[in-house]
Amino acid sequence: MGWLNTLFGGKTAKEETTMTKLNIGIILGSTREGRVSPQVGAWVKSIADKRGDANYEIVDIADYKLPLLGEADAPQAGAWNEKLASLDGFVFIVQEYNHSISASLKNALDYAREAWNNKSAGIVSYGSVGGARAAEHLRGILGELSVADVRVHPALSLFTDFDNGTFKPADLHLTNVNGMLDQVLAWGGALKTIRQ
Ligand SMILES: Cc1cc2nc3c(=O)[nH]c(=O)nc-3n(C[C@H](O)[C@H](O)[C@H](O)COP(=O)(O)O)c2cc1C
Repeated sequence: MGWLNTLFGGKTAKEETTMTKLNIGIILGSTREGRVSPQVGAWVKSIADKRGDANYEIVDIADYKLPLLGEADAPQAGAWNEKLASLDGFVFIVQEYNHSISASLKNALDYAREAWNNKSAGIVSYGSVGGARAAEHLRGILGELSVADVRVHPALSLFTDFDNGTFKPADLHLTNVNGMLDQVLAWGGALKTIRQ
């Protein structure tokens, strides 16, 4: 196996594959107590991990405890930007709050600029009408941040994909989640070439 080590600069083939795969963050958009976004994010990650075609990780905005932008010193902003900078693409787990995205997601979007630029994103939303209105608002914001949001959009219903706060997604969404990930990886790989 000496030739393999030479080929990959001393790294094993498995290490090299992990390094060359895109890093995709699955961003939980809600931070309220009792939120369901961790269940939805874990479901997306389980589908994504089975594909094995990228390094997928959950990124929980709540972990960064970001104050409202400009309201207080926010040493956490550095860690938030560093996390985003380490990612090549995103899957936003979006919940509909008053026909838009949550304030915590908007605040987290506002906290970075270059770290978002020239990357791809998919949206998985939920709400009474699949979170569609929130997802469309998010697309407008992503345009300003130079994030290329993909077309395929799994939209989950509070009425048929949840049972008393427990997430029970219908099988039909599987095709859309995979289609969305296909597009996030295709555009994420393409955009990486212009970020050097
Ligand atoms: C402040 C607030 C506003 C909401 N507004 C809407 C809405 O406009 N449309 C909708 O479909 N659901 C709305 N909902 C229901 C949420 O989509 C639902 O509670 C969802 O579980 C919230 O996501 P989370 O549990 O991850 O916080 C709202 C919920 C909250 C807390």
